[in-house]
Amino acid sequence: MTTKIDEISEQSGEVKHARNNGSTVTLETVRDDHEVQAFIKQANKSLGVLGFTEHGFRHVGLVANIARNVLIRLEYDAREQDLAAIAGYMHDIGNVVSRHGHASTGAMLAYPILTRLGMPPSEKAIILGAIGSHGDDHGQRGEPVNPVSAALILADKSDVHRSRVRNPDPSKFDDHDRVNYAATSSFLRVDAENRTITLELTIDTSIASVMQYFEIFMPRMQMSRRAANLLECSFRITMNDVAVL
Ligand SMILES: [Fe+2]
Ligand SMILES: [Fe+2]
Repeated sequence: MTTKIDEISEQSGEVKHARNNGSTVTLETVRDDHEVQAFIKQANKSLGVLGFTEHGFRHVGLVANIARNVLIRLEYDAREQDLAAIAGYMHDIGNVVSRHGHASTGAMLAYPILTRLGMPPSEKAIILGAIGSHGDDHGQRGEPVNPVSAALILADKSDVHRSRVRNPDPSKFDDHDRVNYAATSSFLRVDAENRTITLELTIDTSIASVMQYFEIFMPRMQMSRRAANLLECSFRITMNDVAVL
């Protein structure tokens, strides 16, 4: 599949330059960066204080891998796959500033880091848009703006799992805790042939009902549907092997 990144890069020569001088920024480059590590660590701590689910190295590592896999399955350009992984790893660093507006602040924080690491402007442009468009706080849904952004949204919103709940006392679960705790497995299946992306969830319905799941996660599901559509796929959800969307 032809990508817009390649078109932009061919005009500027920037990707070619970055590849040729051996300084291409990869997921590993970003993952090993001390500033990125410090921001993810502190952001996760801050969200813990606020009662949010886990947003640390487990979450961002998983999102990086899933986002990359979405674009691999759909046969996007290899560099675009890399950018999805990088955006996935960095997407929640804005929480180190504040939960409110964390997508925008995350993009602003990512800019100087990616500049320091030597990423070409055309690639930074894709990543900043992806990070800035992934959030659903303030009751405002982010909207996918490019394939990397769409892959990031699908990956981020698919991370619903019991292991993310930090509250040790089920009697004190809030709605998000309850729905996450009820999810004993989640898998994002990309079927390139049939152009479908399916979130396959296993939910313990004695803890949270299907209805509760939808009440809590409707904005996320809408974002995922738009993201799938940008990738020319339809979005589906199964719960306990039953199609619910
Ligand atoms: Fe986020
Ligand atoms: Fe996230």
